[in-house]
Amino acid sequence: MVLVYRSTMPTRLFHTSEVEHRYIGESPIKTLLYLFEEQKVRVLLAFIFFCIKHSPTWVIPLLTANTIDVIASHKSLSRLGINIAILIVVTIQNWPMNLLYVKFQSKAIREVENRLRSALVERMQQLTMGFYLKSNAGVLQTKIVRDVENIEQMVRSLSDGGSTAINGVVGAILITAIKVPLFLPFFLVLAPLIAIFISKLRFKLRSRNEEFRGEIEEMSARVNEMTTLMPITRAHGLEQSALQTMYDSFGNVKRAGLRLDIFNAKFNALAWVTFQLANILCLGVASYCALKGKFGVTIGDVVLLTSFFGQLIGSVILLSSLMPQIAKGFASIRSLGEVLESPDVEANANKPQMPSVGGAVNFSNVSYKYPSAPRNAIENISLVAKPGQMIALVGPSGSGKSTFINLVIGFLRPQKGEISIDGHDLSKFDLRTYRRHISVVPQESVLFEGSVRDNVTYGMGSVPDKKVTDALIAANALEFVIELPEGVDTLVGERGARISGGQKQRLAIARALIRDPRILILDEATSALDSQSESTIQIALETLMKNRTTFVVAHRLSTVRKADIILVLDKGVLVEQGVHADLVSAGGLYQQLFEAQTFRND
Ligand SMILES: Nc1ncnc2c1ncn2[C@@H]1O[C@H](COP(=O)(O)OP(=O)(O)OP(=O)(O)O)[C@@H](O)[C@H]1O
Ligand SMILES: [Mg+2]
Repeated sequence: MVLVYRSTMPTRLFHTSEVEHRYIGESPIKTLLYLFEEQKVRVLLAFIFFCIKHSPTWVIPLLTANTIDVIASHKSLSRLGINIAILIVVTIQNWPMNLLYVKFQSKAIREVENRLRSALVERMQQLTMGFYLKSNAGVLQTKIVRDVENIEQMVRSLSDGGSTAINGVVGAILITAIKVPLFLPFFLVLAPLIAIFISKLRFKLRSRNEEFRGEIEEMSARVNEMTTLMPITRAHGLEQSALQTMYDSFGNVKRAGLRLDIFNAKFNALAWVTFQLANILCLGVASYCALKGKFGVTIGDVVLLTSFFGQLIGSVILLSSLMPQIAKGFASIRSLGEVLESPDVEANANKPQMPSVGGAVNFSNVSYKYPSAPRNAIENISLVAKPGQMIALVGPSGSGKSTFINLVIGFLRPQKGEISIDGHDLSKFDLRTYRRHISVVPQESVLFEGSVRDNVTYGMGSVPDKKVTDALIAANALEFVIELPEGVDTLVGERGARISGGQKQRLAIARALIRDPRILILDEATSALDSQSESTIQIALETLMKNRTTFVVAHRLSTVRKADIILVLDKGVLVEQGVHADLVSAGGLYQQLFEAQTFRND
């Protein structure tokens, strides 16, 4: 049987390999060059249009100086007319050329912005679940939204400011070399001084920006936490302590931001004062030369020299004022590197697909230890599950049931031992293709914003109504769904209709069932249901479990009585294994758990 969602799976799943292979967060310049490589034609055109539109800044002083000399030396009126006519033309072209510049610049930047965001989400879909155990959702959101925006803004100001500066410096040096070559050394001495000045401050700016970004990420994590914890916080009257955590985080952002601002201000002010002084010096020297008739400097030359020197200084100030934004953008490039370069990727590339799954699941001497944990969460477990069998996992809280389930799904890779599916080593396959044959009903089901139908058929494309209804019936969910205002088309999820935990769980079961999986995983799937609903679902589940291997985690032992194999875990160790009738009389942990529950009349 060909499942609808299988046939609609996009053939080109991921295309980030190009981005991730050459993205080097620690070399932001290299990374930027690489990111804009595909945009080089647009970048070049944008730069050309910029130079044309920006030409008035060096043409105007030149013609102004010319005009002054025409007046001072009483030359012909026609030369004056030519000067003015050129000035008008050069000024008016700015408008269309500017539009062309922005068009090409923006296309290049928006393209890269889009590509970066796509690369990030694609990478996130490839990272192991282990990565998410370590990461905070708020921080990851910040990277996609804010860091990409920072990079976009940095490139935009680099493009505007950088082009202005290049034009200013090149124009000033070139015209001076042609018109007043004797003044060129004066200009050129300053260039290296400026370079030294900027590079000295760069490193400090970097650390200030990294500190600020860290605080912003920390704040995002806290905001995320606050919103998810809201019901618990309010229910326990913990508003004040929740607020205090937020105030602390905001305070850190404020202080780091202030330190950054002050540093930026010092940087800018120092740059401005230094270079204005140099400007005054230039005016003094040029005027003195003109006054004393030295080096053939005319009145027009004084105007020309001071405006070009001003332009040179302006360019330097502009470049230095870009430094904070550049530092911020570079910090964001490094931040994205944490995701794009994370080695924590599921190694699926170039591995063979798993086109079909029979359902035999074998564990041989499997051990798993969480990186941060002192001991193994799963200790040397072996299991032979035949296709269609029901395997129940029981044991006290923290005994390793969920860890075991995550090993079956392939979210976690065992450090020791081997897990095989139909006799094939699971680690040798593309796990994404394996998981198409699995359905999971997790401990806590999540519904997204959409209709009941969308939630049940998630990722499957169009599914006939009958299949949806059948799945809802099997999950004992149809009775409440038809009561909803718009039946299966009622919106549920965050801002949709409020449905209860048990109802949510039944939709999650329907979602699992409609996929007709070979391996079904129920991690306390029925724990949110009352006994009545549970027993109804139990009957439905039993029929559905018939042809597929099912792993069930349940605290209620009534759920697991019919299991073919019951695995009893304690602190990660498989302490007992067998069927209910045998285990209940074995006098071990299972019997204890069973008696405790019968006593509680559960
Ligand atoms: N991400 C993690 N990092 C470190 N240790 C973890 C992590 N997740 C679980 N553990 C530890 O591994 C052990 C097994 O946890 P697991 O979640 O598998 O238990 P469980 O049997 O499913 O418990 P419960 O019945 O409460 O759901 C516990 O000691 C737990 O503290
Ligand atoms: Mg668990």
